Amino acid sequence: MKVTVLGLGSMGSALAGALLAAGHETTVWNRSAGKDEALVARGAARAATAAAAVAASPLVIACLSDYDAVHGVLEPLADDLRGRTFVNLTSGTPEQARESASWAAGHGAAYLDGAIMSTPPGIGNPAVMLLYSGSSQAFAEHRDTLASLGDPVGLGDDAGVASLYDTALLGMMWSTLAGWLQGVALTGADKVDATAFTPVAIRWMSAVNGFMSTYAPRIDAGVYPGDDATLDVHLGAIEHLVHASAARGLDTGLPELLKASIERAVADGHGADGYARLIEGVRAGGRA
Ligand SMILES: NC(=O)c1ccc[n+]([C@@H]2O[C@H](COP(=O)([O-])OP(=O)(O)OC[C@H]3O[C@@H](n4cnc5c(N)ncnc54)[C@H](OP(=O)(O)O)[C@@H]3O)[C@@H](O)[C@H]2O)c1
Repeated sequence: MKVTVLGLGSMGSALAGALLAAGHETTVWNRSAGKDEALVARGAARAATAAAAVAASPLVIACLSDYDAVHGVLEPLADDLRGRTFVNLTSGTPEQARESASWAAGHGAAYLDGAIMSTPPGIGNPAVMLLYSGSSQAFAEHRDTLASLGDPVGLGDDAGVASLYDTALLGMMWSTLAGWLQGVALTGADKVDATAFTPVAIRWMSAVNGFMSTYAPRIDAGVYPGDDATLDVHLGAIEHLVHASAARGLDTGLPELLKASIERAVADGHGADGYARLIEGVRAGGRA
């Protein structure tokens, strides 16, 4: 398969390297000179201009800093994209992805928007997810080639959905890491090393995974039975986190935030419900 990669920063270089490793005829282009040398040494074709890079392949992958950069490069080449598939692996918002899909459709190009759930060293590992949304037809057609980069997860025809998942998943990553850091600081204050605490924390995450699986269908159904632990019980337990953090002089911002969301639901009369009830407060902008 002939593939073009526009943008040879950390991620674009990793993408092009994985395509080469999988045996694809890979053409590369970067705004600044010099970043293509290692790839060319491995067999990539160097395109002198972005126009030549687009012309070289039916599948064009862009991985630039942001959508403004992508449009700056590709808008002058819109007609050259006609009949090709444009896969945009640049991070952005769902709205930017949808605008790009309309723009590509207006110029006769099939469009896929992608989100890379990895850092560059993970590219090419089949355990790593890359999320795609946009043209299902283009996804089916290029799935095998895209599998060179990692496991391609198709999320349907709405081009904005990959970015939507990406944003949600990064939010989960930050929240989880923030909770872990609180735990590391709390246990560390009593002389437990992070390396001792972390294997136990990782094992606990598999129980948390189970809670999510239990709560998801309840959230979809709008029912929040308190059959495992009620919000009243959670409120009592979270007091311990606030107290233990304060007693050790730690930042109590995160524990207080979590406590406040439970307190609001309890004050609204939902103390006998389960934790999943808190989705209503999130949806209501934190007011319930
Ligand atoms: N790195 C990661 O772990 C990671 C993970 C997931 C997603 N991503 C996403 O992947 C994208 C690229 O990230 P990266 O880590 O590869 O960034 P990077 O190393 O900073 O590379 C940025 C690339 O964008 C190009 N670029 C920037 N502005 C441009 C413009 N106006 N016109 C043409 N080219 C332009 C740069 O070209 P020059 O070399 O000429 O400056 C370079 O090729 C970002 O959207 C990022 O959020 C990255």
